[in-house]
Amino acid sequence: MLARSALRSVSNARAFSSSASRQTKVAVLGAGGGIGQPLSLLLKTNPLVTELSLYDIRGAPGVAADVSHVDTHSEVTGYPADKLDEALDGVKVVVIPAGVPRKPGMTRDDLFNTNASIVRDLASAVGRVAPEAHILVISNPVNSTVPIVAATLEKLGVYDPKRVFGVTTLDVVRAARFLGGIADVNPSEAVVPVVGGHSGPTIVPLLSQTAKGKGITGEVYDKLVHRIQFGGDEVVKAKDGAGSATLSMAYAGAKFTDALLRALNGEKGVTTPTFVKSPLFADQGIDFFSSLVELGPNGVEKIHPLGSLSASEEKLLEACLPELKKNIEKGKAFVA
Ligand code: NAD
Ligand code: LMR
Repeated sequence: MLARSALRSVSNARAFSSSASRQTKVAVLGAGGGIGQPLSLLLKTNPLVTELSLYDIRGAPGVAADVSHVDTHSEVTGYPADKLDEALDGVKVVVIPAGVPRKPGMTRDDLFNTNASIVRDLASAVGRVAPEAHILVISNPVNSTVPIVAATLEKLGVYDPKRVFGVTTLDVVRAARFLGGIADVNPSEAVVPVVGGHSGPTIVPLLSQTAKGKGITGEVYDKLVHRIQFGGDEVVKAKDGAGSATLSMAYAGAKFTDALLRALNGEKGVTTPTFVKSPLFADQGIDFFSSLVELGPNGVEKIHPLGSLSASEEKLLEACLPELKKNIEKGKAFVA
């Protein structure tokens, strides 16, 4: 699938070759990690990336030397711990998978104490050095780290809600894969909008809005929803203390980055779920939410409403909102 999207990117890159935004420098912060390494490799294969800047407190120059031998045209540079500002110079897109992953028995929120300050400090550097960059947050807990990035940029006076994204693509990837398995079709025919946030009950798959998912009921439905909501736990358990999803996340991160790059380059109609500043539930004090978002040359172009929900989905949403609100408030309070 990535190969197909890479091919699509080639043709789109040609189609939009007159666009002024074709010089696209992308930075990966946390490039030496379990996600960062394969993500850097996949971004090296994306023809829309012209320069790749790899930063980590450990090991980024080595990853960069390795990835730089791949025979695509982009230039790759690795930066050690003390060269963050240099790594961010002139970047248009910054992807952040820096931070610790879960071990069995932990929730994503248990990562807050370590990852909140990592993400805040990285966001602060982006705000100072590359204030117009689009920031794609992978580090968990996403429901809190995205508000942390937003509040940090706000403090610096450079926050543009159109340019800050929580990457929830892995939930979308999992939903298509798991539904595809049940319906016995290719996952590309079982794409599901997944809305809300990125942790357990805040992950809300809208199966009723898909041709393959709308007929699923009863125990099969409950199990499918549970698997989409807790797919991350499956990987954490199987890795048995060695971390969480890295390879599927790198795939998902590369997929979302490709979608954004295509939109920045002028492709129309690029729409995907992502966790952004959103008006949908702002009246309930929940000002970040993932729903289908159309991306454009400036980032967020249009936030779509949820559309009609089944009774089961209404219940899932009811369970999502209070938890999401808590996570968002915790992130904001950290920066305040
Ligand atoms: P990892 O431990 O393998 O890698 C993390 C990397 O971050 C390490 O190389 C580390 O040196 C680096 N790092 C730490 N502090 C840093 C800093 N201040 N600046 C730059 N780099 C720094 O972990 P991983 O498996 O790659 O996971 C990374 C994060 O992504 C975790 O928080 C994990 O929970 C999250 N994650 C999110 C999703 C999602 O769907 N959004 C999916 C999987 C994992
Ligand atoms: C995932 O969904 O796989 C990630 O958020 C990592 C995790 O902690 O489960």
